[in-house]
Amino acid sequence: MLRRKVHAFRVQGCLAVYLALFFFVLFEIVSVYGAQHSSYVRSLARRRERSYYVVHLPRPDLRPRISMPLSDNPYLAHMKANKGGKASNAPAQAIRKPILWPPRRVNAKQVRKAMEHDLNPFNDKPHTPQYKKLLARRKQLPIYAQMDEFYKMFTENQILVLEGETGSGKSTQIPQLVCYSDLPHTRGKLIACTQPRSVVATTIAKRVADEMDVQLGEHVGYSVQFEDMTSPGTTFLTYITDEMLLREAMGDPRLTRYSTIILDEAHERSLATDILMALLKDLARKRSDLKIVICVPPLTQSNSRHSSLPPKR
Ligand SMILES: Nc1ncnc2c1ncn2[C@@H]1O[C@H](COP(=O)(O)OP(=O)(O)O)[C@@H](O)[C@H]1O
Ligand SMILES: [Mg+2]
Repeated sequence: MLRRKVHAFRVQGCLAVYLALFFFVLFEIVSVYGAQHSSYVRSLARRRERSYYVVHLPRPDLRPRISMPLSDNPYLAHMKANKGGKASNAPAQAIRKPILWPPRRVNAKQVRKAMEHDLNPFNDKPHTPQYKKLLARRKQLPIYAQMDEFYKMFTENQILVLEGETGSGKSTQIPQLVCYSDLPHTRGKLIACTQPRSVVATTIAKRVADEMDVQLGEHVGYSVQFEDMTSPGTTFLTYITDEMLLREAMGDPRLTRYSTIILDEAHERSLATDILMALLKDLARKRSDLKIVICVPPLTQSNSRHSSLPPKR
């Protein structure tokens, strides 16, 4: 009797050991398989390994989602279709006028003569007394005295960095001088002068239209957010906010409408101007006909830390 009980106990003991071994092996197989195939188990394993997490945000899709024509985009109002239904992104019709000199082959003497002339070369109308009054004031600006140097540098280089004191005539005079060189009205091109602030763009455009003796919104205009004061096909100089030009560059990366782009107040390092500067640096290699002028105040030690340009020596 006792022997039978001992035998039964041994058999049960063996069974229990075999069962324990079986479940152990089964558990190992399941955990190894799970660690290899289950992302949840893997993430648990990783959590055990390190005490920090890296959040990877998906790369934003920058492609335009709405496939509307550029001209219908309210943010690109300045590129609206003209009366003939043609998008203003297309080069404007070149206005046939007597060419004063070959584009980009002008010197200061010729420009001074054209400024003093009775006829306005940009609209073929006689200059008004108001123009002559404003011209007398413009002649006192430092940029007028350095016109020879400006035209020499502008003609010989594709990219020009222009440093000048506040009030020396960078924002109002340089775009006008570029107009005399580029003759954009004879080539169906545009000159853009970027401004970080809308209110400055509109004020300067009005002043420059007066100084050039032309109508604001016709030959000289401005493009700021939700307001476009340009006439596609007629406007050859536009004051545009840097954000508007950046938006335009998203639709037309080669900025084909423009012959010269002036980045004014570049030292302010607005985000849009900074991005534009990088885009234009690339574009300059692809478009040898595009000229770029960067306007900054004198780079002293105190303000050069805001700029990537080297300090003045
Ligand atoms: N809206 C304006 N009304 C009257 N004078 C102006 C106006 N804008 C500019 N000026 C005159 O034109 C000169 C040149 O100004 P600006 O071209 O803005 O200089 P900068 O850009 O180098 O600071 C200034 O000295 C100022 O007297
Ligand atoms: Mg200025």
